[in-house]
Amino acid sequence: MSLKLGDIAPDFKAESTAGTISFHEWLGKSWGILFSHPADYTPVCTTELGTVAKLKKEFDSRNVKVIALSVDPLDSHLGWVKDINETQHTEVNFPIIADPVFLVAKLYDMIHPNASDKFTVRSVFVIDPDKKIRLTITYPASTGRNFDELLRVIDSLQLTAKYSVATPANWKRGEDVVIAPSVKTEDIPSKFPKGHTIIKPYLRTTPQPDL
Ligand code: BEZ
Repeated sequence: MSLKLGDIAPDFKAESTAGTISFHEWLGKSWGILFSHPADYTPVCTTELGTVAKLKKEFDSRNVKVIALSVDPLDSHLGWVKDINETQHTEVNFPIIADPVFLVAKLYDMIHPNASDKFTVRSVFVIDPDKKIRLTITYPASTGRNFDELLRVIDSLQLTAKYSVATPANWKRGEDVVIAPSVKTEDIPSKFPKGHTIIKPYLRTTPQPDL
């Protein structure tokens, strides 16, 4: 059965390029991104892992720990990391889980047999500090992910966890947000003192409240 939003992210112990990891303990009080890629020494995956390494400052500033996974063994990961560093002009600065017996891949339903029964698809799980799954995305092997989009989603998840707001289509940090339907119109001025606009009774906006 596939994991659903709000489920507790399954815990596991696995070998990685940063040693043995007990997942929940490793996450601690941080947000987490667990993402799988189909295979080591493949072109799209090489660019993805290099891109994630270059975004470390952005993940750190949002209190997000990142961890990758493929079903290749640890010695393969260690050799491939050297290629990523060389070709992507960076240093891989996050662990890559080695999952040759599909322990984590099965736990997180990362094997989609109609795509391949040998390799994980490009799954993403965003996990909050309570270990709840807050976002899942699945991409096919042929399409590299947009990691700026993941940062954008994390900005939205962290903002909407604190305030009674939602973020509209294509929202980016700094732009106006939507006031949650649960907020009564008469309560808006006290909850959102920066001002608000009522476009329709169900569509009310306010400047991003935490800036
Ligand atoms: C890639 O990362 O380039 C890739 C991996 C598996 C299938 C197709 C492409």
